[in-house]
Amino acid sequence: PLKTLAKLALLGSVMTASFLAAAEPVEIKFSHVVAENTPKGQAALKFKELVEQRLPGEYKVSVFPNSQLFGDNNELAALLLNDVQFVAPSLSKFERYTKKLQLFDLPFLFKDMDAVERFQQSDEGQKLLSSMKRKGIVGIGYLHNGMKQFSANEPLLLPKDASGKKFRVMASDVLAAQFETLNAMAVKKPFSEVFTLLQTRAIDGQENTWSNIYSKKFYEVQSYITESNHGVLDYMVVTSDTFWKSLPADKRKVIKECLDEAIAYGNKMAADKNAEDRQAIIDSKESKVVELTPAQRQAWVDAMKPVWKKFEDQIGKETIAAAESANQ
Ligand code: LMR
Repeated sequence: PLKTLAKLALLGSVMTASFLAAAEPVEIKFSHVVAENTPKGQAALKFKELVEQRLPGEYKVSVFPNSQLFGDNNELAALLLNDVQFVAPSLSKFERYTKKLQLFDLPFLFKDMDAVERFQQSDEGQKLLSSMKRKGIVGIGYLHNGMKQFSANEPLLLPKDASGKKFRVMASDVLAAQFETLNAMAVKKPFSEVFTLLQTRAIDGQENTWSNIYSKKFYEVQSYITESNHGVLDYMVVTSDTFWKSLPADKRKVIKECLDEAIAYGNKMAADKNAEDRQAIIDSKESKVVELTPAQRQAWVDAMKPVWKKFEDQIGKETIAAAESANQ
């Protein structure tokens, strides 16, 4: 009888364990490369909060910031393997999956973030969300960071100041061409390596938004930041077709709503966050923020314009024209 009792107890605990296992919420992973205190970091946490509020006990969201889980070199491959369910790479990092998004890297294409927003919400912009459909990548929406600034250890006032210097770029041929046209060198490196590359002087400079320069402390290892606003660094929140289709329709609907709201939340804070971090950098006195005169700025525009021609066939002339018209 003792044996039977023990057996029953064992059976009971196995049953309890499997019951508990069945009741475990499904984990959704959201991986990204930036710090938490950034527009993308905050949007990801908002998504977690909303999903866990609206589908309590059914789904839980684990957010992995700072390239902890996956970094630039493997996050999209991991997405396609369903090892992570959401990522939001910058629009510069989709080149292997579509050439169309290279549009966003064209230097001086958008005059400000309002123009970026107008274009993204236009029919042409929305169409680009499905530009990787055949590759199994589903675009959910655009998430803002902001305009990029140049940084280096010498002041970059005119294009010739960049000549001969080595800059880190995201994995984008357009961004590489942007520096090559200045007779500078471009090295494609993952975001997680930028600080060390700057600190060890393996590279001379980089380009990024205020929030990334601040949260990753690039300003501590760069003496000058040129307020160039020469290009945009925004994201596409993406999932895989495999994961998206595997969700029950009613759950997918709720999760999509949570994503849309989290994106709107991130977009709303992006401008303020960048302005705040710009000021924090100035206040730190670790790095000098250099403003350009209109003539200096124009010199950069002229020097970088040839990049457009090089990529216009890949991107599509109409798409470029549509983006330009968002400036009006
Ligand atoms: C970069 O690699 O510099 C950025 O794309 C990082 C990010 O995700 O904002």
